[in-house]
Amino acid sequence: MHMDLPLVFSVTSGKGGVGKTNISVNLACALSEMGHKVVLLDADLGLANVDVLLGLAPKYNLFHLFHDGMDIKQILFETPYGFSILPASSGVSDMLTLSTGQKLDLLEAMDYLEGKINYLIVDTGAGINDNVLYFNLAARERILVLTTEPTSLTDAYALVKVMHLNHDVNRFRVLVNMVPNAKEAKLVYEKLYLACDHFLSGISLDFVGYIPSDPEVRTSVLNQVPFYYEAPESPASRNIQEIAKQITSWEVASKLDGNIKFFWKKLLFQEQSLV
Ligand SMILES: Nc1ncnc2c1ncn2[C@@H]1O[C@H](COP(=O)(O)OP(=O)(O)O)[C@@H](O)[C@H]1O
Ligand SMILES: [Mg+2]
Repeated sequence: MHMDLPLVFSVTSGKGGVGKTNISVNLACALSEMGHKVVLLDADLGLANVDVLLGLAPKYNLFHLFHDGMDIKQILFETPYGFSILPASSGVSDMLTLSTGQKLDLLEAMDYLEGKINYLIVDTGAGINDNVLYFNLAARERILVLTTEPTSLTDAYALVKVMHLNHDVNRFRVLVNMVPNAKEAKLVYEKLYLACDHFLSGISLDFVGYIPSDPEVRTSVLNQVPFYYEAPESPASRNIQEIAKQITSWEVASKLDGNIKFFWKKLLFQEQSLV
């Protein structure tokens, strides 16, 4: 098990309400159950809801890191599910766009996690706003969540396009949520693949799997318990487990693609010093 460098991956989308937070929370459960040390960062800063989905009420959140000089240790909140969260705050407009100073504070704070965890999952907000781009840029891997809704595709394409053209980020993973079966999921994935292939060059899009539309997901949201534990035998939970397994096979720190700016600061520094 790798311990020195956490694998940072974002769960992101162009459109809201596609299931990012549910997927982040339940992947955190599955990876923790497999014995990995996981932290889930709620990066939907102004509309935080990781803690709500988990039925938890942490006292401190990133707002306190930015404004009250608290450190990350005080903000890290242990869940009953084997992983910790870095909660954000809800309804604080100040958090909607991080200042450069706040971005730097956050990257400094993240250094604390190095050597302590295996996975940092970043649950982003939707869209192509500055925060979303920042967190996706910081992550080593990006899981793009799609649904069958046409707007989810156009918005995902917009996000890929901005990341590609403005930030030279070219590698994405695709997870299709709320589909009846694997066949439908592949069709959705192929639509995005074809659009990228046709209009953008050099994009790599890997299909990581799908989560079926599952009534257990809604029930667990209402009960504020992750479906992975509320309904472990449900199709959604089984697929989450498959996807978690796949994530553990991702390469941890191969060649740097030059996009990893802050969570990977130290590694960048080490690589440079080798040249
Ligand atoms: N696989 C699924 N099956 C059924 N309902 C789902 C599924 N995934 C998400 N949902 C529904 O969609 C809602 C929004 O999910 P959420 O994870 O909050 O999305 P996001 O974080 O992308 O805004 C959930 O409250 C749930 O009711
Ligand atoms: Mg969310």
